[in-house]
Amino acid sequence: MDFPIFHLDFMGNRWLIAMIAIVHVMINHALAVGFAPLVTLMEYRGYLARKRDPLEQKHWDELAYKFLFVAFVVTTTLGALTGVGIWFSAALVNPASIGSLIRVFYFAWFTEWIVFVCEVLLIVIYFLSWRKSNRSEKAKLRHIRFGLFLSIFSWITMAIIVGILGFMMDPGSWLSDKTLFSGFTNPIYMPQLLFRTPLAMIMAGTIGLLLVAIFAKKDNPIRPKAFRFVSIWTLIWVPHVVIAGLWYYYKIPDLMIGNLPVALGTQLFQQWYDKLLFVMFGAVGLAVIIGLWTLINSRRIPKWLMVLPIIGVFIFIGMFERVREFIRKPYVIGDYMYANAIRVDDYPLLQRDGILPHSTFVSVQEVTEENTLEAGENVFLIACTRCHTASGINSVVNRFERMYGKDNPLNVEAMKTYMRNMHNARYYMPPFPGNEKELDALAQYIKSLQTYPRPIEGAQLNGTPAIEDDIQKIKEKIIN
Ligand code: HEC
Repeated sequence: MDFPIFHLDFMGNRWLIAMIAIVHVMINHALAVGFAPLVTLMEYRGYLARKRDPLEQKHWDELAYKFLFVAFVVTTTLGALTGVGIWFSAALVNPASIGSLIRVFYFAWFTEWIVFVCEVLLIVIYFLSWRKSNRSEKAKLRHIRFGLFLSIFSWITMAIIVGILGFMMDPGSWLSDKTLFSGFTNPIYMPQLLFRTPLAMIMAGTIGLLLVAIFAKKDNPIRPKAFRFVSIWTLIWVPHVVIAGLWYYYKIPDLMIGNLPVALGTQLFQQWYDKLLFVMFGAVGLAVIIGLWTLINSRRIPKWLMVLPIIGVFIFIGMFERVREFIRKPYVIGDYMYANAIRVDDYPLLQRDGILPHSTFVSVQEVTEENTLEAGENVFLIACTRCHTASGINSVVNRFERMYGKDNPLNVEAMKTYMRNMHNARYYMPPFPGNEKELDALAQYIKSLQTYPRPIEGAQLNGTPAIEDDIQKIKEKIIN
């Protein structure tokens, strides 16, 4: 409404955010939040062995350094880029929602930025001063302390962002008192944080096992000990992730099911959840089996087998994020703003007047006999393209055809009847935000898409009509 609309018709915008975000979460959880304490603990393990066996310390120290090397390279490049990329792509796709979030979480984000800068500084210091720290016992101890700080700061960055993610699912008491504190302490915050923390540690452990297999060669005297060390690390977190996961699981359905009047919707949502629970136990179970196996007998275990729990846990986190994003629908911020970037409170006004007169960057502001299809396209851009495309993934034509039969010509009246009630038919879709005339224009436009399939282009290709009109007017003024 208040912003030009960016849109990718071949794959939909959601994929753009999803691809960046999932890569980021995997790197952040496994190699930052999880690896920092694992590497620090490993270095400390070597430090403890220094008196008994200096050579053993040297081996631990080298292995920990190689672990850190991997984490350092990946987190400071792909990790940092995708981290910024999430907010960049989310702000591109849904500027209004990021705008609202910034207003609520201004100081949280500001703190996040400071903590993040500290985190980067700490990992640079921790990594670059490693060799020097081997000069004396005192230097080593100081170095380990840096590792500890790095672990704490990495965790805090996650702890802040989880506050915002939880808020988007359920703002809780913020809806009435609108303070940063109430937004941050939303009902889903704690279960989500307590769930993600051990999950990050397990993810680090699964990668750690593979790295031991790669970096500690067969003749390395600490190889069995290192395997045991990392498998114990992984196994210790398993009960935490299961308990917190169940807490989280039972926390969300209760809250959300209460908001959902449609039984069918809840079933669909329940199905997803059951699948997730299944994958979670599968992935964690795999990590447990490999962990126990290496604990008991690390000699016999083939390297390729170590890859399995990594794949399992990573599929699980991917699915988890997908479900978390999905069940929030139809809202982008629970009970406050719909995923189409329109606030719940603005609906009565828009449904009376129409959305076009209240939108800045549209090519027409009123539906007339002559401009029906153009108006319909504008309505489609505003009301549907945050989730649908005209001709790509999850295309609206395809969705209607699936309902009414692929070979039947779409019926304008039938589509209108459906759209008037779409939020009841499918709980994850927001109600239609415009007035009757706009509904008609939209239905005509969708029908025309079936007859002449064509992609719809966003402001990045189409430009912004309102601004171009202004430029035109200014030019005319200058000429005259
Ligand atoms: C918040 C995201 C979102 C918005 C906004 C949205 N939809 Fe949907 N819609 C979905 C999802 C998700 C599906 C299910 C896709 C699937 O089955 O894979 C869906 C399915 C549909 C279906 C098929 C329903 C069925 O029962 O099979 C139709 C028709 C549809 N949408 C039309 C629209 C129209 C028209 C608009 C705009 C006025 C719109 N949607 C806006 C998310 C959205």
